[in-house]
Amino acid sequence: SPSDPDLVERARTAKEKLGNKVFILGHHYQRDEVIQFADVTGDSFKLARDAAARPEAEYIVFCGVHFMAESADILTTDDQKVVLPDLAAGCSMADMATAEQVAECWDVLTEAGIADLTVPVSYMNSSADIKAFTGKHGGTICTSSNAKRALDWAFEQGEKVLFLPDQHLGRNTAVRDMGMSLDDCVVYNPHKPNGGLTAEELRGAKMILWRGHCSVHGRFSLDSVNDVRERVPGVNVLVHPECRHEVVAAADYVGSTEYIIKTLEAAPAGSKWAIGTELNLVRRLANRFADEDKEIVFLDKTVCFCSTMNRIDLPHLVWALESLAEGNLVNRIQVDRETESFAKLALERMLALP
Ligand code: 13P
Ligand code: SF4
Repeated sequence: SPSDPDLVERARTAKEKLGNKVFILGHHYQRDEVIQFADVTGDSFKLARDAAARPEAEYIVFCGVHFMAESADILTTDDQKVVLPDLAAGCSMADMATAEQVAECWDVLTEAGIADLTVPVSYMNSSADIKAFTGKHGGTICTSSNAKRALDWAFEQGEKVLFLPDQHLGRNTAVRDMGMSLDDCVVYNPHKPNGGLTAEELRGAKMILWRGHCSVHGRFSLDSVNDVRERVPGVNVLVHPECRHEVVAAADYVGSTEYIIKTLEAAPAGSKWAIGTELNLVRRLANRFADEDKEIVFLDKTVCFCSTMNRIDLPHLVWALESLAEGNLVNRIQVDRETESFAKLALERMLALP
Protein backbone atom coordinates (compact mmCIF):
# COMPACT_ATOMS: atom_id res chain seq x y z
CA SER A 1 0.00 0.00 0.00
CA PRO A 2 1.29 3.51 -0.74
CA SER A 3 2.49 5.33 2.37
CA ASP A 4 0.40 8.06 3.93
CA PRO A 5 2.01 11.38 2.79
CA ASP A 6 1.51 13.03 6.20
CA LEU A 7 3.34 10.21 7.95
CA VAL A 8 6.12 10.26 5.35
CA GLU A 9 6.57 13.98 6.01
CA ARG A 10 6.60 13.48 9.79
CA ALA A 11 9.15 10.67 9.57
CA ARG A 12 11.36 12.82 7.35
CA THR A 13 11.14 15.82 9.70
CA ALA A 14 11.90 13.78 12.82
CA LYS A 15 14.80 12.01 11.13
CA GLU A 16 16.25 15.32 9.96
CA LYS A 17 15.95 16.76 13.42
CA LEU A 18 17.87 13.80 14.86
CA GLY A 19 20.59 14.05 12.20
CA ASN A 20 23.68 11.94 12.93
CA LYS A 21 22.32 10.94 16.31
CA VAL A 22 20.15 8.30 14.70
CA PHE A 23 20.99 5.43 12.41
CA ILE A 24 18.18 3.35 10.93
CA LEU A 25 18.72 -0.27 9.97
CA GLY A 26 16.15 -2.11 7.84
CA HIS A 27 15.93 -5.83 7.25
CA HIS A 28 15.01 -6.88 3.70
CA TYR A 29 11.63 -8.23 4.90
CA GLN A 30 10.46 -4.81 6.04
CA ARG A 31 7.60 -2.99 4.33
CA ASP A 32 8.39 -0.48 1.54
CA GLU A 33 6.95 2.34 3.67
CA VAL A 34 9.63 1.59 6.30
CA ILE A 35 12.51 0.60 4.02
CA GLN A 36 12.46 4.06 2.40
CA PHE A 37 13.78 5.51 5.67
CA ALA A 38 16.54 2.95 6.29
CA ASP A 39 20.12 4.23 6.16
CA VAL A 40 21.21 0.69 5.47
CA THR A 41 19.32 -2.43 4.41
CA GLY A 42 20.62 -5.94 4.70
CA ASP A 43 20.35 -9.56 5.75
CA SER A 44 20.86 -10.48 9.39
CA PHE A 45 24.63 -10.75 9.04
CA LYS A 46 25.13 -7.45 7.27
CA LEU A 47 22.89 -5.61 9.73
CA ALA A 48 24.76 -7.03 12.74
CA ARG A 49 28.03 -5.87 11.25
CA ASP A 50 26.67 -2.46 10.29
CA ALA A 51 25.20 -1.87 13.74
CA ALA A 52 28.65 -2.51 15.24
CA ALA A 53 30.27 -0.11 12.77
CA ARG A 54 28.32 3.01 13.84
CA PRO A 55 29.78 4.04 17.21
CA GLU A 56 28.88 7.70 16.60
CA ALA A 57 25.12 7.08 16.48
CA GLU A 58 23.45 7.53 19.85
CA TYR A 59 20.30 5.75 18.69
CA ILE A 60 20.13 2.69 16.48
CA VAL A 61 16.55 2.27 15.30
CA PHE A 62 16.19 -1.34 14.26
CA CYS A 63 13.48 -2.03 11.71
CA GLY A 64 13.45 -5.79 11.99
CA VAL A 65 12.62 -8.25 14.76
CA HIS A 66 13.50 -8.54 18.44
CA PHE A 67 16.49 -10.92 18.20
CA MET A 68 18.13 -8.59 15.66
CA ALA A 69 17.73 -5.61 17.99
CA GLU A 70 19.17 -7.65 20.88
CA SER A 71 22.17 -8.60 18.74
CA ALA A 72 22.66 -4.96 17.80
CA ASP A 73 22.60 -3.99 21.48
CA ILE A 74 25.19 -6.66 22.27
CA LEU A 75 27.50 -5.48 19.49
CA THR A 76 27.21 -1.72 20.10
CA THR A 77 28.77 0.32 22.90
CA ASP A 78 27.12 0.83 26.30
CA ASP A 79 26.30 4.44 25.41
CA GLN A 80 24.36 3.50 22.31
CA LYS A 81 20.66 2.79 22.59
CA VAL A 82 18.92 0.32 20.34
CA VAL A 83 15.23 0.96 19.66
CA LEU A 84 12.70 -1.50 18.22
CA PRO A 85 9.70 0.53 16.96
CA ASP A 86 7.19 -2.16 18.02
CA LEU A 87 8.10 -4.41 20.94
CA ALA A 88 5.70 -7.08 19.66
CA ALA A 89 7.92 -7.70 16.64
CA GLY A 90 9.26 -11.07 17.75
CA CYS A 91 10.12 -14.18 15.76
CA SER A 92 8.17 -17.40 16.22
CA MET A 93 11.25 -19.47 15.36
CA ALA A 94 13.40 -17.75 17.99
CA ASP A 95 10.63 -18.44 20.54
CA MET A 96 10.91 -22.18 19.86
CA ALA A 97 14.08 -22.48 21.98
CA THR A 98 13.96 -21.19 25.57
CA ALA A 99 16.92 -21.03 27.95
CA GLU A 100 15.36 -23.71 30.21
CA GLN A 101 14.77 -26.10 27.34
CA VAL A 102 18.28 -25.70 26.03
CA ALA A 103 19.81 -26.20 29.49
CA GLU A 104 17.75 -29.38 29.79
CA CYS A 105 18.98 -30.54 26.39
CA TRP A 106 22.57 -30.01 27.48
CA ASP A 107 21.88 -32.24 30.51
CA VAL A 108 20.56 -34.91 28.15
CA LEU A 109 23.74 -34.70 26.06
CA THR A 110 25.81 -34.85 29.25
CA GLU A 111 23.93 -38.00 30.38
CA ALA A 112 24.58 -39.58 26.99
CA GLY A 113 28.28 -38.79 27.44
CA ILE A 114 28.56 -36.52 24.40
CA ALA A 115 28.35 -32.97 25.78
CA ASP A 116 32.16 -32.68 25.77
CA LEU A 117 32.27 -33.63 22.10
CA THR A 118 29.48 -31.27 21.09
CA VAL A 119 29.79 -27.66 19.89
CA PRO A 120 26.64 -25.51 19.88
CA VAL A 121 25.99 -23.49 16.73
CA SER A 122 23.04 -21.15 17.06
CA TYR A 123 21.28 -19.37 14.27
CA MET A 124 21.09 -15.61 14.66
CA ASN A 125 17.33 -16.12 14.95
CA SER A 126 17.49 -16.91 18.67
CA SER A 127 17.17 -14.98 21.92
CA ALA A 128 20.16 -13.40 23.68
CA ASP A 129 19.85 -16.16 26.31
CA ILE A 130 20.45 -18.84 23.69
CA LYS A 131 23.37 -16.87 22.29
CA ALA A 132 24.82 -16.66 25.82
CA PHE A 133 24.43 -20.43 26.27
CA THR A 134 26.24 -20.85 22.96
CA GLY A 135 29.11 -18.58 23.98
CA LYS A 136 29.43 -20.26 27.38
CA HIS A 137 29.77 -23.70 25.78
CA GLY A 138 32.40 -22.74 23.23
CA GLY A 139 30.05 -22.32 20.28
CA THR A 140 29.34 -19.73 17.63
CA ILE A 141 26.41 -17.91 16.07
CA CYS A 142 25.72 -18.23 12.36
CA THR A 143 23.37 -16.63 9.86
CA SER A 144 22.04 -18.01 6.61
CA SER A 145 24.99 -16.40 4.82
CA ASN A 146 27.77 -18.06 6.83
CA ALA A 147 26.26 -21.31 8.13
CA LYS A 148 28.71 -23.50 6.22
CA ARG A 149 31.72 -21.59 7.53
CA ALA A 150 30.31 -21.80 11.06
CA LEU A 151 29.87 -25.57 10.74
CA ASP A 152 33.36 -25.99 9.27
CA TRP A 153 34.72 -24.13 12.26
CA ALA A 154 32.59 -26.09 14.75
CA PHE A 155 33.72 -29.45 13.38
CA GLU A 156 37.31 -28.35 13.92
CA GLN A 157 36.46 -27.81 17.61
CA GLY A 158 34.43 -30.97 18.22
CA GLU A 159 32.88 -34.08 16.75
CA LYS A 160 29.25 -33.10 16.93
CA VAL A 161 27.15 -29.99 16.53
CA LEU A 162 24.01 -29.03 18.42
CA PHE A 163 22.27 -26.73 15.93
CA LEU A 164 19.71 -24.27 17.34
CA PRO A 165 16.88 -23.49 16.71
CA ASP A 166 16.22 -23.94 12.94
CA GLN A 167 16.31 -27.61 11.99
CA HIS A 168 16.00 -26.72 8.30
CA LEU A 169 18.99 -24.40 8.06
CA GLY A 170 21.00 -26.98 10.05
CA ARG A 171 19.95 -29.91 7.88
CA ASN A 172 20.21 -28.04 4.59
CA THR A 173 23.71 -26.81 5.36
CA ALA A 174 24.90 -30.22 6.59
CA VAL A 175 23.53 -32.14 3.62
CA ARG A 176 23.76 -29.63 0.79
CA ASP A 177 27.02 -27.86 1.66
CA MET A 178 28.95 -30.31 3.85
CA GLY A 179 28.27 -33.62 2.15
CA MET A 180 26.64 -35.23 5.20
CA SER A 181 23.73 -37.60 4.81
CA LEU A 182 20.26 -37.25 6.28
CA ASP A 183 21.18 -40.17 8.57
CA ASP A 184 23.92 -38.06 10.16
CA CYS A 185 21.17 -35.77 11.54
CA VAL A 186 18.75 -36.37 14.41
CA VAL A 187 16.03 -34.02 15.61
CA TYR A 188 15.83 -33.08 19.29
CA ASN A 189 12.24 -32.36 20.31
CA PRO A 190 12.20 -30.16 23.44
CA HIS A 191 8.64 -31.23 24.21
CA LYS A 192 9.55 -34.89 24.65
CA PRO A 193 11.53 -36.55 27.45
CA ASN A 194 15.21 -36.79 26.40
CA GLY A 195 14.27 -34.92 23.25
CA GLY A 196 12.54 -38.04 21.98
CA LEU A 197 15.95 -39.65 21.34
CA THR A 198 17.79 -42.61 22.81
CA ALA A 199 21.36 -42.17 24.07
CA GLU A 200 22.44 -44.42 21.23
CA GLU A 201 20.78 -42.22 18.61
CA LEU A 202 22.48 -39.18 20.11
CA ARG A 203 25.86 -40.89 20.13
CA GLY A 204 25.46 -41.95 16.48
CA ALA A 205 24.58 -38.46 15.19
CA LYS A 206 26.91 -35.78 13.83
CA MET A 207 24.25 -33.07 13.74
CA ILE A 208 21.74 -32.73 16.56
CA LEU A 209 19.06 -30.44 15.15
CA TRP A 210 16.73 -28.51 17.43
CA ARG A 211 13.11 -28.96 16.43
CA GLY A 212 12.43 -25.36 15.40
CA HIS A 213 11.35 -23.90 12.08
CA CYS A 214 10.16 -20.73 10.38
CA SER A 215 6.42 -20.79 9.78
CA VAL A 216 6.74 -18.38 6.85
CA HIS A 217 9.28 -20.47 4.92
CA GLY A 218 7.56 -23.66 6.07
CA ARG A 219 4.69 -22.79 3.74
CA PHE A 220 6.70 -23.65 0.63
CA SER A 221 6.45 -27.29 -0.41
CA LEU A 222 7.76 -29.55 -3.13
CA ASP A 223 4.41 -28.97 -4.86
CA SER A 224 5.12 -25.22 -4.93
CA VAL A 225 8.35 -25.96 -6.81
CA ASN A 226 6.78 -28.45 -9.23
CA ASP A 227 3.80 -26.16 -9.90
CA VAL A 228 5.91 -23.12 -10.68
CA ARG A 229 8.16 -25.10 -13.02
CA GLU A 230 5.03 -26.07 -14.94
CA ARG A 231 3.48 -22.61 -14.83
CA VAL A 232 6.64 -20.73 -15.84
CA PRO A 233 8.75 -22.78 -18.28
CA GLY A 234 12.48 -22.18 -17.90
CA VAL A 235 12.10 -20.64 -14.44
CA ASN A 236 15.02 -20.61 -11.98
CA VAL A 237 13.94 -21.51 -8.47
CA LEU A 238 15.76 -19.51 -5.78
CA VAL A 239 14.92 -20.17 -2.11
CA HIS A 240 16.01 -19.24 1.39
CA PRO A 241 17.70 -22.06 3.40
CA GLU A 242 14.98 -21.83 6.08
CA CYS A 243 12.80 -23.77 3.62
CA ARG A 244 12.25 -27.49 4.16
CA HIS A 245 14.88 -29.89 2.90
CA GLU A 246 12.84 -31.24 -0.02
CA VAL A 247 12.22 -27.68 -1.24
CA VAL A 248 15.90 -26.76 -1.02
CA ALA A 249 16.88 -30.03 -2.71
CA ALA A 250 14.54 -29.26 -5.63
CA ALA A 251 15.63 -25.61 -5.98
CA ASP A 252 18.31 -24.29 -8.35
CA TYR A 253 19.80 -21.68 -5.99
CA VAL A 254 19.75 -21.33 -2.21
CA GLY A 255 20.86 -18.44 -0.02
CA SER A 256 20.22 -15.57 2.37
CA THR A 257 18.12 -12.53 1.50
CA GLU A 258 21.24 -10.61 0.53
CA TYR A 259 22.32 -13.51 -1.73
CA ILE A 260 18.87 -13.54 -3.34
CA ILE A 261 19.16 -9.83 -4.19
CA LYS A 262 22.73 -10.16 -5.53
CA THR A 263 21.75 -13.16 -7.66
CA LEU A 264 18.89 -11.23 -9.26
CA GLU A 265 21.10 -8.17 -9.83
CA ALA A 266 23.52 -10.39 -11.76
CA ALA A 267 20.81 -12.27 -13.68
CA PRO A 268 20.58 -11.72 -17.45
CA ALA A 269 17.66 -9.86 -19.03
CA GLY A 270 14.92 -12.23 -20.12
CA SER A 271 15.53 -14.66 -17.24
CA LYS A 272 12.69 -15.91 -15.07
CA TRP A 273 12.80 -16.46 -11.32
CA ALA A 274 10.56 -17.97 -8.67
CA ILE A 275 11.58 -16.81 -5.20
CA GLY A 276 10.88 -18.73 -2.00
CA THR A 277 11.12 -16.15 0.76
CA GLU A 278 9.07 -13.46 2.49
CA LEU A 279 6.65 -11.56 0.26
CA ASN A 280 7.60 -7.90 0.98
CA LEU A 281 11.05 -8.66 -0.40
CA VAL A 282 9.81 -10.65 -3.38
CA ARG A 283 7.34 -7.92 -4.40
CA ARG A 284 9.98 -5.22 -4.08
CA LEU A 285 12.35 -7.24 -6.27
CA ALA A 286 9.64 -7.96 -8.85
CA ASN A 287 8.95 -4.21 -9.17
CA ARG A 288 12.59 -3.24 -9.18
CA PHE A 289 13.61 -5.62 -11.96
CA ALA A 290 10.47 -5.36 -14.12
CA ASP A 291 12.15 -2.65 -16.28
CA GLU A 292 15.16 -4.88 -16.86
CA ASP A 293 12.94 -7.60 -18.28
CA LYS A 294 13.57 -10.05 -15.44
CA GLU A 295 10.39 -11.87 -14.56
CA ILE A 296 10.16 -12.48 -10.82
CA VAL A 297 7.31 -14.45 -9.27
CA PHE A 298 6.55 -15.64 -5.77
CA LEU A 299 7.22 -19.36 -5.33
CA ASP A 300 3.80 -20.15 -3.90
CA LYS A 301 0.27 -19.16 -4.88
CA THR A 302 -0.67 -18.13 -1.35
CA VAL A 303 0.34 -14.84 0.25
CA CYS A 304 3.10 -15.18 2.79
CA PHE A 305 4.29 -12.20 4.81
CA CYS A 306 6.17 -12.50 8.07
CA SER A 307 3.52 -11.07 10.41
CA THR A 308 6.02 -9.98 13.04
CA MET A 309 8.33 -8.23 10.56
CA ASN A 310 5.19 -6.46 9.31
CA ARG A 311 4.44 -5.10 12.76
CA ILE A 312 7.03 -2.42 12.11
CA ASP A 313 4.96 -0.07 10.02
CA LEU A 314 5.20 3.62 9.23
CA PRO A 315 3.05 4.76 12.21
CA HIS A 316 5.34 2.89 14.63
CA LEU A 317 8.45 4.26 12.97
CA VAL A 318 7.09 7.82 13.09
CA TRP A 319 6.20 7.41 16.76
CA ALA A 320 9.67 6.11 17.62
CA LEU A 321 11.50 8.84 15.67
CA GLU A 322 9.33 11.67 17.00
CA SER A 323 9.76 10.39 20.55
CA LEU A 324 13.54 10.29 20.16
CA ALA A 325 13.55 13.74 18.57
CA GLU A 326 11.69 15.04 21.64
CA GLY A 327 14.22 13.41 23.95
CA ASN A 328 12.04 10.43 24.96
CA LEU A 329 13.84 7.14 24.76
CA VAL A 330 11.11 4.61 23.90
CA ASN A 331 11.19 0.86 23.24
CA ARG A 332 14.83 0.41 24.16
CA ILE A 333 16.14 -3.14 23.80
CA GLN A 334 18.76 -3.78 26.43
CA VAL A 335 20.37 -7.12 27.18
CA ASP A 336 21.59 -7.57 30.77
CA ARG A 337 25.36 -7.48 31.29
CA GLU A 338 25.94 -11.13 32.18
CA THR A 339 23.94 -12.42 29.22
CA GLU A 340 25.57 -9.84 27.01
CA SER A 341 29.14 -10.88 27.86
CA PHE A 342 28.60 -14.54 26.91
CA ALA A 343 26.39 -13.77 23.92
CA LYS A 344 29.05 -11.37 22.67
CA LEU A 345 31.64 -14.16 22.75
CA ALA A 346 29.47 -16.23 20.43
CA LEU A 347 28.70 -13.31 18.10
CA GLU A 348 32.34 -12.30 17.92
CA ARG A 349 33.29 -15.86 17.00
CA MET A 350 30.88 -15.52 14.10
CA LEU A 351 32.28 -12.14 13.04
CA ALA A 352 35.79 -13.68 13.10
CA LEU A 353 34.89 -16.67 10.90
CA PRO A 354 37.23 -16.87 7.89
P1 13P B 1 18.58 -13.40 6.36
O1 13P B 1 18.16 -12.01 6.02
O2 13P B 1 19.84 -13.40 7.16
O3 13P B 1 18.67 -14.26 5.14
O4 13P B 1 17.49 -14.04 7.34
C1 13P B 1 16.18 -14.22 7.02
C2 13P B 1 15.29 -14.22 8.20
O5 13P B 1 14.44 -15.04 8.38
C3 13P B 1 15.42 -13.19 9.15
O6 13P B 1 14.47 -13.42 10.08
FE1 SF4 C 1 11.31 -15.40 12.17
FE2 SF4 C 1 10.58 -16.59 9.91
FE3 SF4 C 1 9.81 -14.10 10.37
FE4 SF4 C 1 12.39 -14.63 9.84
S1 SF4 C 1 10.65 -14.88 8.45
S2 SF4 C 1 11.59 -13.29 11.46
S3 SF4 C 1 12.58 -16.65 10.84
S4 SF4 C 1 9.21 -15.94 11.56
